[in-house]
Amino acid sequence: MELISTKICKTSDIGVNENLFGGTLMAWMDEAGGSFAAVKCCTPNLVTVKINEVLFKKPVKVKEHIRIYGKVLKVGRSSITISVEARKVMFSDAVEDSVCSTEMVFVKIDKEGNASPIKEKVRKKLIDELKEN
Ligand SMILES: CC(C)(COP(=O)(O)OP(=O)(O)OC[C@H]1O[C@@H](n2cnc3c(N)ncnc32)[C@H](O)[C@@H]1OP(=O)(O)O)[C@@H](O)C(=O)NCCC(=O)NCCS
Repeated sequence: MELISTKICKTSDIGVNENLFGGTLMAWMDEAGGSFAAVKCCTPNLVTVKINEVLFKKPVKVKEHIRIYGKVLKVGRSSITISVEARKVMFSDAVEDSVCSTEMVFVKIDKEGNASPIKEKVRKKLIDELKEN
């Protein structure tokens, strides 16, 4: 998976049980996933159409650093499906621990907000890369 962004859990991000608020983590992942998908599709004109099951595996506490990773799973005519995973940095042993993962679908839209095809050259490159991996 490719590193997309890093976040630090602040006191303002905490919910009622001293853990990072789930909705905040989802927003971070949606933004990171959207940015990743936009770079892959060579356009900023993408919207989130679907977020699959979101699993919060481990709590995140204040001061913990969260790295968000992405991977392309599928490319359609106007959509791209990606895997998004958030991992916390374990500073003591320099490893990462997965805290949350999901799959997201983003769709390229035109000026009217309707689905529009991803450029054929970009689409072909992404499909070729998927075949290689
Ligand atoms: C994205 C949107 C334009 C798609 O409209 P639509 O009428 O479903 O368009 P289409 O039927 O042509 O489908 C477009 C693509 O979306 C995909 N798609 C639509 N619904 C889907 C779903 N439930 N799951 C997965 N993919 C879906 C289709 O498979 C298609 O992909 P493809 O072109 O690669 O084959 C429309 O649903 C929309 O505007 N949604 C709101 C987006 C938004 O505001 N997101 C921010 C969060 S509020």
